[in-house]
Amino acid sequence: MSTLAAGDDTSFDENYGVVWGAYHAKELHGGTELTRTVGPGSQFDSKLHYTSGYFHMKMKPPGRDSAGVVTAFYVRTRSNNDEMDFELLGNRTGKRYALQTNIFINGKGDREQKINLWFDPTADFHDYSILWNPFQIAFFVDGVPIRVLKNMPGTGAGYPQKPMTLIGSIWDGDRWATEGGKQKINWTYAPFTASFGGFAVDAACPFGTAAGAGGCRTAWWNSPKFWNLSPSQQLQYQHVKSQLRFYDYCSDRSRYPTPPPECPV
Ligand SMILES: *[C@@H]1O[C@H](CO)[C@@H](O)[C@H](O)[C@H]1NC(C)=O
Repeated sequence: MSTLAAGDDTSFDENYGVVWGAYHAKELHGGTELTRTVGPGSQFDSKLHYTSGYFHMKMKPPGRDSAGVVTAFYVRTRSNNDEMDFELLGNRTGKRYALQTNIFINGKGDREQKINLWFDPTADFHDYSILWNPFQIAFFVDGVPIRVLKNMPGTGAGYPQKPMTLIGSIWDGDRWATEGGKQKINWTYAPFTASFGGFAVDAACPFGTAAGAGGCRTAWWNSPKFWNLSPSQQLQYQHVKSQLRFYDYCSDRSRYPTPPPECPV
């Protein structure tokens, strides 16, 4: 097992609980790290819902031949209507993982973007995080912005606003995940094990608690500095868009002859 990046000794049980596939979950290192095994899969959720925040998860998906296996961190409403997700898409041995992100608004997803990562995600833990405030949703990998959705009131574009839980999972996605579903899970390589860590949830507005009353309007992640990417983040984001992103639903004219309203013109 890899060790956790220093600085987060929060135990799994403090903020999370296993939802399904408990018999596949194993806590390590005093509960600061969790491994999950696919087949059929497993999932854990945060105990609380949040209305804004800067959510982090460390993940290390299975190595070797993991085509069809999806390792995910996402933020989702109880009704499943709104969702933001990171999905690490496994691949055949020696072929690189892809990172897919998606956003569901009012029950509709189909907003996939895919990038190539600049590292091997199976070699060690990396940080996958989502900043969500009333102005923007930004996805980061190790602090580098890889996707941004601006809140654009009045344009007809939706924006997730309902309380959300944080979820980690590993599951069988071989209908679609690797080369569009052509590469299936090779079960002779099972069990497929993903590791998760970094269970602190300290930059988040907890719904239905005194701390979250008033929507945490004065919290740092809701302050003007976090309404837009900084100039240096903009540069990083340009690089990701031009060099690493290889699929963007916004520019897929066969699916969307007219780009959806949230897409940049
Ligand atoms: C898997 O590997 C193939 C071949 O290198 C590549 O085209 C594809 O983008 C990789 N990732 C996924 C998820 O299919």
